[in-house]
Amino acid sequence: MNDLTRSARSELLEPEDIGTNSSSNPSFDSVLTARLSRRSILKGTFGLASSVFFGTGLAACGGDNDVLAAPTTPPVTAPEVTKSLKLNFNAVAKSLADVVAVPAGYTASVLYRLGDPIAAGIADYKNDGTESGASFAQRAGDHHDGMHFFGMSADGKYSASNSDRGLLVMNHEAITGAYLHANGQTIAGNARTVADEVLKEMHAHGVSVIEVNRSGSGFSYKKDSAFNRRITALTEMSLSGPAAKSPMMITAYSTDGSKTRGTVNNCANGYTPWGTYITCEENWAGFFRRVAATDDANRTAKEKTSFTRYGVNTNGTHLWATVTTAETSDTTFSRWNAMKTGPSADGSDDFRNAPNTYGWIVEIDPFTPTSTPKKRTAMGRFAHENAAYLPVVAGQPVVYYMGDDSRGEYLYKYVSTAMWDPVDATRGLSAGDKYLDDGKLYVAKFNADGTGSWVELKFGSNGLTASNPAYAFADQADVLINSRLAADAVGATKMDRPEWVAVNPANNEGYLTLTNNSNRVPANPTSSQQLVDAANPRFYNDPKGSAGTAQKGNPNGHIIRWKDASATATTFQWDVFLFGARSTANADNINLSNLTANNDFSSPDGLWFSNNTGLLWIQTDDGAYTDVTNCMMLAAVAGKVGDGGKKTINNVDGATIKAVDTYVGAAPGDTNLRRFLVGPKECEITGVTETPDGKALFVNIQHPGEDSKPDYTNPASYGSHWPDGGTSRPRSATIVITKSDGGTVGGGLA
Ligand code: FEO
Ligand code: CA
Ligand code: CA
Repeated sequence: MNDLTRSARSELLEPEDIGTNSSSNPSFDSVLTARLSRRSILKGTFGLASSVFFGTGLAACGGDNDVLAAPTTPPVTAPEVTKSLKLNFNAVAKSLADVVAVPAGYTASVLYRLGDPIAAGIADYKNDGTESGASFAQRAGDHHDGMHFFGMSADGKYSASNSDRGLLVMNHEAITGAYLHANGQTIAGNARTVADEVLKEMHAHGVSVIEVNRSGSGFSYKKDSAFNRRITALTEMSLSGPAAKSPMMITAYSTDGSKTRGTVNNCANGYTPWGTYITCEENWAGFFRRVAATDDANRTAKEKTSFTRYGVNTNGTHLWATVTTAETSDTTFSRWNAMKTGPSADGSDDFRNAPNTYGWIVEIDPFTPTSTPKKRTAMGRFAHENAAYLPVVAGQPVVYYMGDDSRGEYLYKYVSTAMWDPVDATRGLSAGDKYLDDGKLYVAKFNADGTGSWVELKFGSNGLTASNPAYAFADQADVLINSRLAADAVGATKMDRPEWVAVNPANNEGYLTLTNNSNRVPANPTSSQQLVDAANPRFYNDPKGSAGTAQKGNPNGHIIRWKDASATATTFQWDVFLFGARSTANADNINLSNLTANNDFSSPDGLWFSNNTGLLWIQTDDGAYTDVTNCMMLAAVAGKVGDGGKKTINNVDGATIKAVDTYVGAAPGDTNLRRFLVGPKECEITGVTETPDGKALFVNIQHPGEDSKPDYTNPASYGSHWPDGGTSRPRSATIVITKSDGGTVGGGLA
């Protein structure tokens, strides 16, 4: 019996792989096929040859109907534009070595590792699993993930331009129990019997805020900074926005439903135009213990529908709630029990409603260490991967895109009611109250003709009423708490595991990684499998290793992009930017982006546009191409929607070849897409940010060695010894990458 850790999940299926979307909504796959068969070829050119960049502000003058960010400096006139965006490094080779490899002329240094102390008086981490659970309230958490650098002025305020000193804020998504504890997790029967292990795990999740300072050519973190902070599964949080104080939020901890405790499974991130950080709650559902066979009789039909749709039916496989030896009046452990245990009618005497207080976008003010994080319920509840905003323009709303990472889930858009006022750029959480607590939440429908639409999730509209057959919505709070059910009801398009979204600041186009779908089936699918007919864009086998183990479906994933007609538009155009593949794979039906040995990749996940260089960074969380290479990060010069053309894919389904027409973004070639980094063994590369001057790039190396089952008497059994080397246990860590000549990382205008 294993508790929910990455290593446990990877042995079976990760929650994202399973999916809980049983709606009959169309899948992206089928829409793509239909749309591509009708669409005319869009014309365009690749690259940003006519783009201009101004320091940290940025404007572009490329497309005739591009939505432009307001430049911070008057643009130069077009005839003066002679430079274009270029990569400034040679590609790193694929690798299975237990190192971080970066290009020649670059340096990567380790900055912040699992267990590193963030307060005076906290000892260095021994990395043998013997530290107390309590000490982890002042140590780096595990599984570093999404991350952002906030420049800081001398007086400790947010400074968007300062590159020498800042607050680095990052997520700690999950844990590797095998290395976090001296001898792994102690589990007896179906219970956790060592309370301190569970306390350590709760503290190892959440968020770190650390002060970092430029030091020589690199960076160091300040161990005793007053800004250093850990936000964990125990930190008090406000519930904010329309679903706050809903009867569905009432718990024994907050009988008016106004607050909750903690955040978990903090996957990727976002940030705001007003200097605050966003952490996203992804696979939170699995942390709540609910034995359906016991609890179902005590729950309403609506509750059971909601539990099923979000996967809060763990049947007792998550075990934090099973600690009884150290339970105190503050319900540290029993609060993870989501079953009805008390006699009250409203849930004020137990934690039956606790799952409703998770699954949100959480806003944190890193510059005010005593501030209470706020869960922004207006932005919807699902398995939040990350959030990315369109460049803000005075007098226009603040717009975020967000993905829901599970197989067959959706892409969302949030549009604030308040119009952006630049004076709010320094107002922290109070600006968040203004822009993120009141707005419209939309979900994406991808149409067959290459257009798409955003459908609003508003109680009383689009069938979101008490008459909805699958789930009777009571009010807007109910719509937001059950965003997935609302999206089902309006016919949103099922996607292949939406991971990160990113916005190209040069032209306001949105990008979304669809990491993979191992369950595409061409014929005779069972009811639990995602329906894909023979006409879908890619169904193929990707043989793995010397044995040629079959990996069927879309094991390598792809990246799509779209362009809204305007910030408030409810329509968009879209195409496929890149398809992941082995470079050796057939270009007719698999390697549709003509990837080469210098840039082939699989399972894109992390995705972020630099506001300085304008480069697109792509990170992988892969299990398909790992016979050849560890996970990696690539840099791209992105084009624009419609810059590619029509391609016919010859899908191989058994002995039958089925042709389908598709449209693929312009092949990047080695010029516009190169592998920049390869990580150590069994890691995932996730989380990327940089200093405003673009000269230091921060990257997280998550869970090296996570697949191994360590024999603690034989360190050679550890899956990795990165970053400390020798016979050490592996540790998730942040690295900082600089260019030896002091230039911008990855590329720039040249
Ligand atoms: Fe935590 Fe979807 O990656
Ligand atoms: Ca991710
Ligand atoms: Ca992932």
